[in-house]
Amino acid sequence: MSYNLLKGKKGIIFGALNEQSLAWQTALKAHEEGAEIVLSNAPIALRMGEINKLAEAINAPVIGADVTSMDDINNLLDKSIEHFGGKIDFILHSVGMSVNIRKGNPYTNLNHEFEMKTLDISAVSFHKVLQAAYEKDALNEWASVVALTYIAAQRVFPDYNEMADAKSLLESIARSFGYHYGIKKKVRVNTISQSPTRTTAGSGVKGFDGFINFSEAMSPLGNAPAEAFAEYCVALFSDLTRYVTMQNLYHDGGYSATGVTQQVIDKMA
Ligand SMILES: NC(=O)c1ccc[n+]([C@@H]2O[C@H](COP(=O)([O-])OP(=O)(O)OC[C@H]3O[C@@H](n4cnc5c(N)ncnc54)[C@H](O)[C@@H]3O)[C@@H](O)[C@H]2O)c1
Repeated sequence: MSYNLLKGKKGIIFGALNEQSLAWQTALKAHEEGAEIVLSNAPIALRMGEINKLAEAINAPVIGADVTSMDDINNLLDKSIEHFGGKIDFILHSVGMSVNIRKGNPYTNLNHEFEMKTLDISAVSFHKVLQAAYEKDALNEWASVVALTYIAAQRVFPDYNEMADAKSLLESIARSFGYHYGIKKKVRVNTISQSPTRTTAGSGVKGFDGFINFSEAMSPLGNAPAEAFAEYCVALFSDLTRYVTMQNLYHDGGYSATGVTQQVIDKMA
């Protein structure tokens, strides 16, 4: 069911790789709610071609950008403004990648060059997008910018590895840039801390099956699925949440506030 919550709004969605992607589901939902969208992903992801199915379904152009490149981001913003014939109302940063996890390096034996790359792709890129938008004055007043994070920024999940540090930085950037952009233009910047979800990035974490089942058992409402994430994200893009900014918002079925559940106690007893 559509409420036209994003009617007349224009946004950029980063990170739709395949149907499982949190960004993919969000693009579908935002379109259903009346938004016009530009899709973006890394050139290598575009070569896989999946994104074209989504682009067709929601009638959106695809503009490649490696989020670590300021040139790519500037080009994406310029072309999006040209395409929309005006400024931008929302951005979803749904990008993450850990080189050390890919290479199987444990947290206690990181390759620090890889780590810098991970931090650049997964966290500093958010600053790059915000800074490019800020400098160009690419966003409308009350625009909403959202990035995706995980509770490993607050608590230890051993196999989440260097991504925990990347997410801490990402959340800090949301707070700090949210301050400056709020004052300059009433732009909102938030992170959503999502339940474990079966996606390409999610499943890359070692022991993901145990991880996601544990989280399910520890969440009074169960893990939040991707479709529900998309709905929450649309609410944050909409005018109904105009005074929410600089927050890390848990979308996790109550996991973050739960010490233990009876289900887990029964398993341990
Ligand atoms: N899946 C989960 O369990 C979960 C939980 C909490 C937060 N998140 C976060 O959600 C976000 C989206 O991940 P997802 O789970 O939908 O997986 P996904 O693999 O579908 O999405 C990750 C995206 O990042 C893109 N990307 C990687 N390097 C890039 C680069 N250099 N430039 C541009 N794009 C690049 C990939 O192409 C891909 O589209 C990530 O930030 C992830 O950490 C995921």
